Amino acid sequence: MQTKLPKDFFWGAATASYQVEGGIESCDWAEAARHGRVPTCGIACDHYNKYREDFDLAVELGHTAHRFSLEWARIEPEEGEFDYEAIEHYRQVLVALKDRGLEPIMTLWHFTLPLWFTERGGFEHKDSPQMFARYAKFVAEQLGSEVTHITTMNEPNVFGSNGWLRGSWPPFKRFALTDLVSITNSGNNFEDKAEKGIRNLFLYRQVMKNLARAHNAAYDAMKPVASHIQVSVVKHVIVFDANWNPFNKIKAAIANYAWTTVFMNRTKRHLDIVGLNYYFYTRFGDHRQWRKTDMDWNFAPERIYDALIRLSKFRVPVFVSEAGLADHDDSDRPEYITKQVEATMQAIQDGVDVRGHLYWSLMDNYEWALGFEKQFGLIKVHYEDGLKREIRPSAWVYKDLIEKYSRVE
Ligand code: BGC
Repeated sequence: MQTKLPKDFFWGAATASYQVEGGIESCDWAEAARHGRVPTCGIACDHYNKYREDFDLAVELGHTAHRFSLEWARIEPEEGEFDYEAIEHYRQVLVALKDRGLEPIMTLWHFTLPLWFTERGGFEHKDSPQMFARYAKFVAEQLGSEVTHITTMNEPNVFGSNGWLRGSWPPFKRFALTDLVSITNSGNNFEDKAEKGIRNLFLYRQVMKNLARAHNAAYDAMKPVASHIQVSVVKHVIVFDANWNPFNKIKAAIANYAWTTVFMNRTKRHLDIVGLNYYFYTRFGDHRQWRKTDMDWNFAPERIYDALIRLSKFRVPVFVSEAGLADHDDSDRPEYITKQVEATMQAIQDGVDVRGHLYWSLMDNYEWALGFEKQFGLIKVHYEDGLKREIRPSAWVYKDLIEKYSRVE
């Protein structure tokens, strides 16, 4: 049976500013790279200059939407001082998307933070929600008329756990007991150099609360300025499952609660729609030898179904804001994308209100602490050859799926 998609269902891919734009120096990740703690990002894919050509490729691949992020450090390089040239750049990005019939899904903040903000304590600071809301309000005033979908933040739980529990991302604070539960694989080269201590667990809790407050404050600040916008948060959902063992079932229930429910309960009254980022399926007590992606993550694209069901419990419409895999030779991606899309269609048939599907990522990019080696792109980027773009075969598989499911019978 053909799935009946909601009107205006959108299809496409996602990127994030620091991972693709290049030339961003005034943020915490660039500072960490200068200290040798993470790989240097440099010019990345030079998407800052090549965005029009990249959007042309997205159109060729059948996309109808594109998710991208603004770089906060470009827009507010000093506290309370806004850069109108940076805003103008992003206005042009929005124009370029709309000219090509691509619906913009715009994220305000995707992991990298302005240096002035981190120097003031970042999201540990009690006033950080208001600082974030001031930025959000400025963006809504400047760009609100050009856009419908605004995501406040990307994956708060990944940001918090990698920064304050694993210690692999800025600000490199570590609570070693975290290793008892494997959360996300973000590279382990730098964890030993992290600042360790039990205090980091409390800081993590504080940061998570401030992130929820920051989202809520940004929502309240943007809505009066641009009442038409659909505000979302992008939530990373890990599907924690268990074998028959009751102890493992309890463990999975606690993990799901801690990873997803807590943040969603804090923000669900300030959401018009929520984005799902799906990458992980973990089954406690399972000794199966999993097939792995290049990130060493379990190959379980069909479990996006469980993640969609989980997120739909919070009674807000959902869109798939990211899902995909690192696969350098594109041998597994066609199957992965097909299963991921089919499972999403199944969730819709079973009643989940899904409004769109975005693959991660449009092109290869800077994979955070792992540098440029891991390749998630529908489009391969030749870093050694003038940043030339090459469409991968799986991108056409995705195009066929888009056409198949968009057909009205
Ligand atoms: C993030 C992306 C990242 C991707 C693959 C998500 O956690 O939003 O920035 O590149 O997963 O790891």
